[in-house]
Amino acid sequence: MRVLPLALLSTAISIGLSACGGSSSDSGEPIEVPQVESLKALSTTYMGAAVPAGYEDQFSNGIETRPELQDVVIQHFDQITAENIMKSAYIQPRQGDFTFQDADNLVDWAVDNNITVHAHALVWHSQMPSWMENYQGDWLTMMDTHVSTVADHFKGRVVSWDVVNEAFNDNDDNGYATYRDTDANSGGHGSPWYQNLGKDYIPEAFKMAHAADSGAELYYNDYNIEDDGAKLASVLRMADELLADDIPIDGIGFQMHVNYDWPSAQAIGTSFAKVVAKGLKVKVTELDIKMNPNGDRNTFTATMAEEQKIRYQEIIKAYYDNVPANLRGGITVWGVSDADSWIPHFTGHNDWPLLFNSSLEQKPAIEGVANELK
Ligand code: XIL
Repeated sequence: MRVLPLALLSTAISIGLSACGGSSSDSGEPIEVPQVESLKALSTTYMGAAVPAGYEDQFSNGIETRPELQDVVIQHFDQITAENIMKSAYIQPRQGDFTFQDADNLVDWAVDNNITVHAHALVWHSQMPSWMENYQGDWLTMMDTHVSTVADHFKGRVVSWDVVNEAFNDNDDNGYATYRDTDANSGGHGSPWYQNLGKDYIPEAFKMAHAADSGAELYYNDYNIEDDGAKLASVLRMADELLADDIPIDGIGFQMHVNYDWPSAQAIGTSFAKVVAKGLKVKVTELDIKMNPNGDRNTFTATMAEEQKIRYQEIIKAYYDNVPANLRGGITVWGVSDADSWIPHFTGHNDWPLLFNSSLEQKPAIEGVANELK
């Protein structure tokens, strides 16, 4: 933070507090602190947030040790996603050793507080334990053991699953993205699932999840599909194939790790509408809005806060405008406090992508969301 002369700093704070109940931005300009009472009370669809949770000696920012974070989640959200601890690296770290305790604690806390759980994620090339990545036996059996055991364990306590996460590359090969394959073919992030089972791992995973928990809604989840480009075309083609074969898929999860200026609200709306046209649900699973994607904006100003509010607002509007009530799977933000966001680690730049600042005060962005919830 830039150091301000003391007199100037106290003026900025007192103007902020007296004029509009504000906190001062890094540049000293007051940023409004809205007083939205409850997002979930305004929404007819699930209003979710990803939450960090402790796991053995990892993730020291876990919600179980932070009553103030618990209060915000209970006040505003009726769904949570575990940010990490239901991924394969944490839930089956060694073959046959399923470590459910921490995820169970989180799910029990949610259920006790009338919060539903969207579970994430059964089959993904990332955050896999090394034994799984390097598995030498029968992959279909290994996948079945993982998917069936995990989905069965949480049966009745979670409302939905991301069954397969991020199966496609970010390329454009004649209008379609290719499946993640070897690291060499996939920018260093290939999929052992595809390498060992071909694209059939996708329908197989959905069948296994459905057999284990027929009550849970099942999603395919991916990023960069909200710009109506080649990757969305591939996801839609895959959806056609799954539906033609009566594979139990309920919807498409749009992660939506977007920028303040990309993609356009129009492209986002069109992308949602194309999934709706297949009769599938649309779930926004991991929304956050990067305000500093290129690393050239080093303070969060009141102007940026307003820009972010408008951006959240147009995205929520695109959702309600394009997705009919019966196909709305919900809207989840990928974290609550800016202090916990994964974005700065991912981009390597400061950022302020979420609805609450690092002191868990509301940012103008939350008003943008509240304005469009129905
Ligand atoms: C991220 C978590 O937020 C980070 O804490 C972790 O280090 C990496 O994974 N797509 C997904 C999420 O489906 O699981 C990722 O979560 C973000 C991108």
